[in-house]
Amino acid sequence: MSDRNSGRQRANRRDFIGSIGTASIAGGLAALLAERNVARPVAATATTDRDIFATDETADPDATFPQSVASGGPTESGVILWTRLAPDAVIDSEPLGVQVATDDGFETVVYEGTVPADRLSSAHDYTVKIDLDGQLEADRFYHYRFVYDGVATRTGRCRTLPAADASPDSLSFAVLTCQDYQNGYYGAYRHLATEAVDFLVHLGDFIYESADGSYTSPTTDIKDGRDFDLPSGADLAESLADFRTLYRIYRGNEHLQRALERHTVIHGWDDHEIGNNRYWDDDAGAPVLPDKDGGEQPETAMEITADGIQAWIEYVPARVEFDPTEPALQDQLRLWRDLQFGDLVDMTVTDERLFRDGPPCEDGRRLTCTSEEAADRTMLGGEQKQYFKDWVADSDAVWTVWANEVLTMPLTVGDGWNQVELFHDSWDGFQHERWELMQHIADVDPRNVVVLTGDLHAALAGYVKGGYGEIEPFETYDRIGVELMTPAISSVNAADVVDFPGDWDDDALAALATAANDHLEYVDWHHHGYAVVEFTRDHCTYTVYGVDKDADPRDADRTTLARYRTPDGEPELEEL
Ligand SMILES: [Fe+2]
Repeated sequence: MSDRNSGRQRANRRDFIGSIGTASIAGGLAALLAERNVARPVAATATTDRDIFATDETADPDATFPQSVASGGPTESGVILWTRLAPDAVIDSEPLGVQVATDDGFETVVYEGTVPADRLSSAHDYTVKIDLDGQLEADRFYHYRFVYDGVATRTGRCRTLPAADASPDSLSFAVLTCQDYQNGYYGAYRHLATEAVDFLVHLGDFIYESADGSYTSPTTDIKDGRDFDLPSGADLAESLADFRTLYRIYRGNEHLQRALERHTVIHGWDDHEIGNNRYWDDDAGAPVLPDKDGGEQPETAMEITADGIQAWIEYVPARVEFDPTEPALQDQLRLWRDLQFGDLVDMTVTDERLFRDGPPCEDGRRLTCTSEEAADRTMLGGEQKQYFKDWVADSDAVWTVWANEVLTMPLTVGDGWNQVELFHDSWDGFQHERWELMQHIADVDPRNVVVLTGDLHAALAGYVKGGYGEIEPFETYDRIGVELMTPAISSVNAADVVDFPGDWDDDALAALATAANDHLEYVDWHHHGYAVVEFTRDHCTYTVYGVDKDADPRDADRTTLARYRTPDGEPELEEL
């Protein structure tokens, strides 16, 4: 976290008893976060009571902690640790213990504390986040566990950031996105549990807000064992109980759990944490959820969005600014933030959903549409855009890395007047703002720019340029960096949707995209899995792994689909 944000962050963390705001909401819209008791990270209290940490080695951790543990929000001196208690395991007046050690046998405990019993509450769905910022040393792995009534969680491993003045030789990140539980199994997570990386970066669609297979492949059914109902009975989540149920199911998966026990996650989000293709209507002063019943009604969309944010805050250990006393929903959650990994990597995570304008061209994809180029359209919103520009200008690491949700590069078919963008949901629908940002990056000229992207349910690598000709068509633009997209873990991809003829092999379909988009170097529409991106002082290396989401995770092999290397100072993608 940069100094720019740290003052407000500290204030938020001190305010650790879940605050209940009293501010009224502009427009009088009801049931907003300011009126709710939303879970906040707590500071554990030091204790000398040894009984709290006495454990019964034979006890089953799953019965007491059915979602196991997770960690996120790394700083130089801490992480946020997360767990959830089973409601029927909770005993009045019993506090929760937490231990952090340098070894997985807990011989050398470096931090011990308790969370008071009154913080283990149905108000937060029995989730707990403990913020250890300021308690740990920089640049190292730790082991941790929670203990409750003699039962210990599985042991998790977490990692702090390198110190700001450190010069790491290398850092590696597994990059994840799009894990529709009903469309596939989590073989990718089984492999991630043993992946030797420093951190996970999750670019969003951690949950899909669906219970009826709304987003699964039209050619197959909901996967066996993955049919469930939401408490409201709706197909798409529309209440806090619905969102909590989804998180409990997703976080109940054993393969996801093993991976998140092993790695500290840097979380972004995308649309499905709340609703498909969500956006913000400035005129109404409210979000729009186009797929939900009533999702175009400001009051309904506001309430569902508040529900989704509340569950996200409860279930995702992300270090974000969250102030429910702000009168406007857009001012309550600042998901955008940056992390510094010594002098090797500067990373920002942006929010490309809460502030974005609606679809261009009234969502009609037609050749005559030009409103995607309108200068007043925004994906980031004014404040976040200025933050992003300042961050890029200030970044002086070897690698300037943007953890970005949707494809920044154009993806078009056709030529000239017949050219049409395939996805207006990505930056192709916000071409003027893209041009403005790319021109800014070109102007301030960081040493190396790497954009990590999710969302499209494909793997893709290409060149980020100072522009792509849509705003000033007679200009030529230089490469300013590379964009590396990670495939979906389990969500529906092109090969799921279309039953391709046998002679349309992977390469032929990929060639359709690379032929029409000369900034693209590599495309794979067919596979699921994840990417690993490693940064050294000489190279950035992108490796795409394929893991079959249709196979039983225990049998799902991992294959290397592609490897590309970008040298320091040269926006090139060298195939390895
Ligand atoms: Fe997705």
